Amino acid sequence: MNRKYRKTVIAGNWKMNMLASTVKPFMEELKANMPKVRPCEVVLCAPAVIVPTLLKAGKDCKVAAGAQDVSKYEKGAYTGEVSASQLADIGVKYCIVGHSERREYHGEDDMLVNAKAKALLEKGIVPIICVGESLEQREKDLTLEYIAYQIKAALNGIDATQVRRCVIAYEPIWAIGTGRTASAQQAQEVCEHIRAVIRGIYGARPARAVSILYGGSMNAKNAAELLAMPDIDGGLIGGASLKPVDFAAIVAATDQE
Ligand code: 13P
Repeated sequence: MNRKYRKTVIAGNWKMNMLASTVKPFMEELKANMPKVRPCEVVLCAPAVIVPTLLKAGKDCKVAAGAQDVSKYEKGAYTGEVSASQLADIGVKYCIVGHSERREYHGEDDMLVNAKAKALLEKGIVPIICVGESLEQREKDLTLEYIAYQIKAALNGIDATQVRRCVIAYEPIWAIGTGRTASAQQAQEVCEHIRAVIRGIYGARPARAVSILYGGSMNAKNAAELLAMPDIDGGLIGGASLKPVDFAAIVAATDQE
């Protein structure tokens, strides 16, 4: 982490879990376990139908509400889609785009991820842009090249002012939901590379202002070591974000120099 230049962000990704009716007891338990002084920005990204409940319950606990996906279209005849204006209108501050599960199960490509990030920025919502390599790519030593490609594609047409508001999440696909975490060194190597790619496009100042998160089996035990790395500015947490005590412990792990 580097608190001097950028925000530390701990974001939970509930994926297709939780019910609106379980949000209140979750938030009560989370609040009871949270550190008294909040060392970072805390976000929970919920399924769209649960977001309004989360917005209400999150206020008391100082947790920002995020969504997990958005339409690239502004409005109109797009059945089933949710627009960036609709999210902004109810107070959503963050939205995940390009999660590997959407890329894999819903055919999202880099162009679509780019269009969604732009749609969010236009409405003042912070896109949490996910990138990450497969196990095969890592084993073939293609990780850095592939990540550079994903970053350039996702940021295409986004200007230097807007990029400062983006959050990037490095989520190696082989580490998601597998219990197999990237080592702190592996995660740092890629996050540092992401910053170098951003620096190459926008220059030093915007690059040092972008928060880069690590995601993939981050938990209460391994969070502190990952967060101690200079280019890892937080986490995007799946499984452990469903357990209030564990999620609060990850938030507490950002309290380090
Ligand atoms: P896990 O923390 O369950 O591995 O999930 C990571 C993730 O995909 C967050 O977006």
